[in-house]
Amino acid sequence: MRRAVRRALVRHVVLTAVVTAVLSGITVGGLYLFANGEAHRTARDVSGRVATAVVVALAEHHYDPVDPTSRDDVLAGLAPFIDSGMLARVKIWRVVGEQVQVVVSDEPRIEGERRRFDADLARRLDAGEIVVFEVPDDPEHRYERADGRTLLEAFVGFRDAWGVPMRLEVYVPVDTAATVRSAMADLLPLVIGSLLVLAAATVPITVSLARRVERDQRERQAVLHYGLAASERERRRLAQVLHDGVVQDLAGTGLLLDALLLDETAAGRRDLLGRAHGLVERDVGLLRGLLTELAPGGLGTPDVRTSLQDLTVEHERTAAHVRLETDVRPTDEPEPPVVALLHRVGRELLRNAVRHGAPAVVRIDVDTPSAGRVRMTVTDDGRGFDPAAPPPDGHVGLRLVELAAEELGGTVAVRSAAGQGATVEVTLPTAVGPGQTDARGS
Ligand SMILES: Nc1ncnc2c1ncn2[C@@H]1O[C@H](COP(=O)(O)OP(=O)(O)OP(=O)(O)O)[C@@H](O)[C@H]1O
Ligand SMILES: [Mg+2]
Repeated sequence: MRRAVRRALVRHVVLTAVVTAVLSGITVGGLYLFANGEAHRTARDVSGRVATAVVVALAEHHYDPVDPTSRDDVLAGLAPFIDSGMLARVKIWRVVGEQVQVVVSDEPRIEGERRRFDADLARRLDAGEIVVFEVPDDPEHRYERADGRTLLEAFVGFRDAWGVPMRLEVYVPVDTAATVRSAMADLLPLVIGSLLVLAAATVPITVSLARRVERDQRERQAVLHYGLAASERERRRLAQVLHDGVVQDLAGTGLLLDALLLDETAAGRRDLLGRAHGLVERDVGLLRGLLTELAPGGLGTPDVRTSLQDLTVEHERTAAHVRLETDVRPTDEPEPPVVALLHRVGRELLRNAVRHGAPAVVRIDVDTPSAGRVRMTVTDDGRGFDPAAPPPDGHVGLRLVELAAEELGGTVAVRSAAGQGATVEVTLPTAVGPGQTDARGS
């Protein structure tokens, strides 16, 4: 497996693990809140049921003071709830001014204890509400232990036989942890399972994206590499022209001039001078050709028309057997960097047509397809090719044209098929944005 793909897969797995952990945490937290709410609801429910079942009987007694028979009666009425484990403790409070006093409890040690009673709570109970709290861990509740479960206390208000306001407080044990555990056992596998399925289902997408990124990177590297190689080739070609043409000719001219000094006859001198003149003229022509290639349009700022005329001159010099027709009439003149790119693109496309298509005619049209754009269309009637087929290794001219055009915000469209010639259309903006100067050679 390739490195980029492996790295993407590792990232995928780590991300899945992190998301699963975070979602599981959120689910457990949510379940805990849910279980807590559920516990309060259960306590309210249980105390509501107990109250309905016993309050009428409780209201038949009076509790100032409570006589032992009444106490036994009251506790006997509550016993089934305590024995079944539904209630952990029962306290019956009598309201004494701002205070309350335990008058009956299944825990005799707390009978007679007094404490202040919250006024707001008293109001709510008198309004018929059942109020539920978590049992605080304080000395008042030293006899209430929930043995690992959550203990909730629920208050219900009633009046005794003499009409004195009373409070029934029942302690309801609820197993919040067990509720969380059972809900988790149901929900967590579902959450984790669906995340894993989702993660597994998206693996192919991750892999294909990683592959595409890697392919793009490889292609760019290759293009950069071959682009450098292409410019190196071009320099060698120029050196060869200078060496095989200009330098040889100048050396020859030097020899001719030496001979001229020694030749006594006028006819001989004329002949030698004529040959030296011929060599010098040829070299001037060669050097002009090189200059045109190096600085299209001369050393000033060329317009598209001049720049393409230079291309025509070069073409006449190198491939006069192929007719070149040009029609250059953009209504928006492009900026110099765009003109320079059009020249390089035109030269590559013209060379491609001549070299690969062996056509009779090549056309170069330059026009304005829409305001602010310039379009160069190079058409040949040669043997054509399949534009979708990858070029041979190291042949990157067209790809470089595409990259250079993209870099300036332009587009390239190639239309060709075997035996049907080729048309390449390059559209560029006439103005380049700041920092957008094409540095690649094609
Ligand atoms: N006008 C055309 N007619 C026929 N075949 C073409 C034409 N233009 C391009 N091709 C085909 O597409 C291939 C890729 O062209 P490209 O310009 O990228 O590479 P190249 O010209 O072979 O090499 P390079 O430009 O790197 O020196 C060519 O090798 C040729 O087979
Ligand atoms: Mg080429």
